[in-house]
Amino acid sequence: MDMLIIRGGIPLAGNVRLAGAKNASLPIMAASIAVSGLSQLRRVPHLADVSTLTQVLESLGAVVTRDLSTGELTITPPHATTGIADYDLVRRMRASVCVLGPLLARWGKAVVSLPGGCNIGHRPIDLHLKGLVALGARIRIERGYVHAEATRLHGAEIYLGGPFGSTVTGTANIMTAASLARGITRISAAACEPEIVDLGNYLNAAGARITGHGTPVIEIEGVDELHGVEHEVIPDRIEAGTMMIAAAATCGDVLIEDAQPRHLSAVIDILRQIGVTIEPSSTNDGRTGLHVSGAAYLNPADCTALPYPGVPTDLQAQLTALLCLVPGISVITDKVFPDRFMHVPELLRMGAQIRREGASAIIAGPAHLSGTNVMASDLRASAALVIAALAAEGESVIRRVYHLDRGYEKHDEKLRQLGAQIQRTTDHPEALPESLRMTGESTMEQHKIEEISSRFTPPFQNQPTKPHFLSDGYSIARPMVSQSDDSSGPVVDL
Ligand code: EPU
Repeated sequence: MDMLIIRGGIPLAGNVRLAGAKNASLPIMAASIAVSGLSQLRRVPHLADVSTLTQVLESLGAVVTRDLSTGELTITPPHATTGIADYDLVRRMRASVCVLGPLLARWGKAVVSLPGGCNIGHRPIDLHLKGLVALGARIRIERGYVHAEATRLHGAEIYLGGPFGSTVTGTANIMTAASLARGITRISAAACEPEIVDLGNYLNAAGARITGHGTPVIEIEGVDELHGVEHEVIPDRIEAGTMMIAAAATCGDVLIEDAQPRHLSAVIDILRQIGVTIEPSSTNDGRTGLHVSGAAYLNPADCTALPYPGVPTDLQAQLTALLCLVPGISVITDKVFPDRFMHVPELLRMGAQIRREGASAIIAGPAHLSGTNVMASDLRASAALVIAALAAEGESVIRRVYHLDRGYEKHDEKLRQLGAQIQRTTDHPEALPESLRMTGESTMEQHKIEEISSRFTPPFQNQPTKPHFLSDGYSIARPMVSQSDDSSGPVVDL
């Protein structure tokens, strides 16, 4: 297993180019199983999740070839298929469930393993199944597998709203299945994410008749067959947001090439509120992007992750890492995955002051983050730990970076090009930096230990507080904030 060793405190600077979006590539690749001809896809990122879905498609009889130098991926659909997506593959990646709708629509049968548990919270697929049943599928769950059958699906009115909003991969499944159904389907409370728009554009290029993708009401007029197609995947807005936050956290100056401002409006808005400067920009060779410059003084924020066009839940962990560095009290709430806070205990180990309150994290800053050993629990949590490590004093070791490799193409290499001191090595005791080896005889000088101990105060305990009322009338005890009389900006009395 690999781990990352990061020396923090270096402002990121330079240009970085985005990969194609993981969450657009996966449903598009899955939809290719419903297409009768070749799917030639450009800008597919080189990621562990893409390799896993490639194996799922191959197990279904498709032939997948990829040119790593160009990012081009070609999928030849199967001539015949068992329609079985096995547990061993689906458990490695939930997005494998995206083959359910395409298999059913094109082949009349799908046997897809239920994905099982997930580190970011409860993730049922009831809405996917409800939509497919409305399209005429017969579905039963047996021994951990969804068995779905239909001779020919038919159009239907489908409401896809759930307790936490719509469902992104559920919308993908129903939209693809309805493309081959007889008659018209109208999905209301559809997911509006740019990745759904990209899937709709791919399907339309293959001969589907879809309108309204990108809005909460999608209309699909079913066709008899989808034909071969060429398509370029959109740039990854979550990679863009992650790089923007990393630039802000290190007080850096970065041009993110190919970032699409219209996909990132909520992220741009919250980062500007925090005090980060973001301007549309372009490179000498005419590529457009976003220029992000950090600032020495940042403002706390009250931020909620919501379905698109809100702040994405896939950036909640990274924003939490940034807000740890900001003076004052920040609140971050996740309304999409209310339990997606596995990064918090690891950030606490680095010196952050965060308290969980249901679906929220209340963050007292500025924390003086110090490098240490931390463990990645999931994809976006790993990205948050990388950001914290880039901003921390000293060296950090991040283990289980295979989570990071699932969704970020060459993340460490790209950060290195921006000046970060980041090294990838196999997880082995010998590889640990001297500063993080606990040998019994501490290598840390005594005065350093005392200095760190004197800084440590348990979060939110014994603090002088005054009530602070947020705009919705909910009040929290806010540590007193006083303006320092030197030039180092506001300080929090913690
Ligand atoms: N939900 C239901 N019933 C369902 C489906 C979802 O109640 O049938 C709930 C979920 O439990 C969750 C909310 O609805 O609370 C949203 O879930 P959604 O189905 O939209 O998530 P997803 O489609 O499984 C995609 C992304 C995730 C991203 C979410 C939310 C892909 C492959 N995955 O998952 O990406 O967090 O949408 O935007 O597109 C990531 O990239 O790190 C990642 C987890």
